[in-house]
Amino acid sequence: MKLQNSNMVTSIYVPSHLVSNEPKKRERLNIVYHHHKITRKDREKLNGHRSCVVWFTGLSGSGKSTIAGAVEEKLAAMGIHTYLLDGDNIRHGLNSNVDFSEAGRKENIRRIGEVAKLFNDAGIVTLTAFISPFREDRTMVRSIMKDKDFIEVYVNCPLEVCEQRDTKGLYKKARAGEIKDFTGISSPYEPPLNPEIEVNTQQQSIEESVSHIINYVTLQIR
Ligand code: ADX
Repeated sequence: MKLQNSNMVTSIYVPSHLVSNEPKKRERLNIVYHHHKITRKDREKLNGHRSCVVWFTGLSGSGKSTIAGAVEEKLAAMGIHTYLLDGDNIRHGLNSNVDFSEAGRKENIRRIGEVAKLFNDAGIVTLTAFISPFREDRTMVRSIMKDKDFIEVYVNCPLEVCEQRDTKGLYKKARAGEIKDFTGISSPYEPPLNPEIEVNTQQQSIEESVSHIINYVTLQIR
């Protein structure tokens, strides 16, 4: 539903009196951060491991969700507390009101960055699987985390291969013009320039990619 008297924050209409991204306005609203007694350190101690955010980025069909899921399974088997935030799933709930326009994706990633930060603060190894096509947005998410908390994993796979896989039939629809702003076809994907980890799902098996990531992550959280 489109609301009257509203401003465009993403590609959905949000009443302007409800929304402000300006820090100054937050000050004017008299919001003060409350530091609670139980900290991330306490939660990590209870869990027996440190937390971090493992941010998977790559084209649709590159294998982000598959690899993130397999990494999570391995970590869980090791007794590590995890949570996987997956683009397709989150877009059914929390982010069901953002679309695939540039502004919509920006807002999608901004929210997930904040959610991942909360999960990380909860002491949980947080895996995210979103295309997150824009470098600027991933840099922004990195900037709200502490150093070493953000592990960017580039799931590299050529567009032709993703398109050939076309597990959801979306590339075919995008080529036929039935889906607009489709990443790789009619909307850009900006690969990471300096990711902590890069896997190539055209050349490596899932097991190889997973063990590469597990080796890195387990060192971080010990
Ligand atoms: S992101 O670009 O905003 O990070 P996100 O990861 O949440 O995207 O969602 C991507 C998933 O939505 C894809 O895997 C695909 O299944 C589906 N999808 C639907 N429309 C599009 C589109 N226009 N571009 C890319 N993915 C789309």
